[in-house]
Amino acid sequence: MAKKIAEPTLPPKERAFLVGVELRNEPSLLSLDDSLTELALLAKTAGLEVVGMTSQKLDAPNPNTFIGPGKVEEIKALVEETLAQVVIFDNELSPRHLRELEERFGENVRILDRTALILDIFAQHASTREGILQVELAQYEYRLPRLTRAWTHLARQTGGGGGRTGAMGGVGLRGPGETQLEVDRREIRKRIASLKSELEKVRAHRSRYRSQRQRSQIPTVALVGYTNAGKSTLLNRLARADVLVADQLFATLDPTTRRVELPGGNWALFTDTVGFIQKLPTQLVAAFRATLEEIAEADLLLHVVDITHPNALQQAQAVHQTLMEIDAGHIPTITVLNKVDQFPDPQAATQTLTGFPGPIVAISALTGQGIPELLSTVSRELFEVYVPVRVKLPYQQGNLISIFHDQGKVTRVEHVRGGVWIEGNLPVRLLARFQPFIKNDSSDTSEEVGETIET
Ligand code: GTP
Repeated sequence: MAKKIAEPTLPPKERAFLVGVELRNEPSLLSLDDSLTELALLAKTAGLEVVGMTSQKLDAPNPNTFIGPGKVEEIKALVEETLAQVVIFDNELSPRHLRELEERFGENVRILDRTALILDIFAQHASTREGILQVELAQYEYRLPRLTRAWTHLARQTGGGGGRTGAMGGVGLRGPGETQLEVDRREIRKRIASLKSELEKVRAHRSRYRSQRQRSQIPTVALVGYTNAGKSTLLNRLARADVLVADQLFATLDPTTRRVELPGGNWALFTDTVGFIQKLPTQLVAAFRATLEEIAEADLLLHVVDITHPNALQQAQAVHQTLMEIDAGHIPTITVLNKVDQFPDPQAATQTLTGFPGPIVAISALTGQGIPELLSTVSRELFEVYVPVRVKLPYQQGNLISIFHDQGKVTRVEHVRGGVWIEGNLPVRLLARFQPFIKNDSSDTSEEVGETIET
């Protein structure tokens, strides 16, 4: 089925035609229509004008052109009719699909896929040194196997999207017997290597900063959620911080941290993080691993859900999946249902999303409704919920031994060769730090003899 969205006019922005494919054997979180609607929003965020869209259901992708040959001809006609300059596929295209499609559509039509589009948006929005390096690296890694045309073409492509990828400007000298394409690939590999080493330096700095923060012992709370759920608005509300709020996808790319006082007088550091999206490109998950580590090392997660969105449940599931991928599935989580000002009965909102672990709080980051309850819940989760644990800490972990005594409730201590067994209760927020030493199986103390102190 094909539908036209807008009549062609003189192009102020690049005109994009969207193509969605449902593969029968590949289950997808969103329906074909919803996924295409999301793609249209992504295209708009990237600064493109969507002039039409079409879709096809297939058992498996066509090995050459991803969609069937008849569909290619149909889209070519629609592209001509709507004066589209870019065709964007909702699915990730293999290098071969991209090459074949570029051939079929000719020089004047750019072919992109969802991954390239998201990478482009990330490139436009990255603002810290690390963010810029991460996106640039992800873009080069995505492009390397897909390089089909000469450098000049590539430079035009990257410049057009408005991304920060101008580094592809210079043309390397051709070695003996090398084609231009080989020269280009060599240059890209060199650039990838240099980006990786620059990133290492930035990361070393970040990890020094992180360990300083850990020593300060203020717990960290990471705001996670689907793109546009309202994380930045919530952080602004909590800390009166000046974080960019925009009705755009991925307005926030780099984590921003603010200190917030909780009821009861304790403090916590709240961190805004990059929004998640279904089919988040694997290159991006990999490239942003360091940034995502901020999430994996948090003491508590606030999973912000836009409860007014028709696919709120699917979006929450997509976030949950990504959290598992980055090893953050074990962190205690509060589900925060946002935008309840749009809901006639805010209490009913809490019934619409069940099955997620942890407490659920309904709020409006915009009006402030529910914020006091949210802060009390955060305070309770961080400072009042204790879990019983049994840990074996080597003496080198003196820091953890004293943290257990200061902030936990110790019931039994047993000194053995090289370390100490401690039994007691720890606040939930400290669990992740003790995780490697937790041994709740009581069988493995038998070989050691030591002094036991009951408290
Ligand atoms: P990303 O940066 O894409 O991850 O987005 P985000 O989750 O940080 O969302 P952001 O705070 O930028 O908000 C997205 C849009 O939702 C903005 O237009 C906000 O004004 C709007 N919004 C946020 N919270 C609320 C709310 O409680 N009620 C209503 N009605 N709108 C809200």
